[in-house]
Amino acid sequence: MLTQILYTSRSTYPRGNLTDLEILRTAMRSNENDGITGALLRDHRRFFQILEGEQETVLSLVRRIQQDRRHFDMSILVQRSIQDRTFGEWSMGYGEIDVGTIGALESINLARTDALDMILATVLPFVETPAL
Ligand SMILES: Cc1cc2nc3c(=O)[nH]c(=O)nc-3n(C[C@H](O)[C@H](O)[C@H](O)COP(=O)(O)O)c2cc1C
Repeated sequence: MLTQILYTSRSTYPRGNLTDLEILRTAMRSNENDGITGALLRDHRRFFQILEGEQETVLSLVRRIQQDRRHFDMSILVQRSIQDRTFGEWSMGYGEIDVGTIGALESINLARTDALDMILATVLPFVETPAL
């Protein structure tokens, strides 16, 4: 069964750092092997990452990412079963989002059943394929 997970975490380093590229290089290679797709969004201090794939694979990746010292305070916001992927084209898309967008994301009530759809609609325009 396909699962989609959104988590947020706090970055240990600011936006514009090459460390993002290192993470993306690893992610793109490893996710392609594992059938995982998604996107990594960030502002100056926070990450938002969406991961899609087979439930067991996604959960084991989440456990691995949780150990990563390049971020902390990881918290899963939404997890749901899906029929179709939103990020089928991206082994890991990337985007920088601004404070206004973060504010819009934070104002979405996560208890709503369509919360993740609203979040995805908000961030999708920012996602691009990283040029590595
Ligand atoms: C914010 C963030 C997002 C990450 N996303 C992924 C990802 O999508 N896929 C991936 O394989 N690793 C990702 N990583 C890197 C993993 O934490 C880990 O370093 C990498 O998978 C290598 O794991 P290993 O050293 O156990 O082989 C991410 C790390 C951070 C900090």
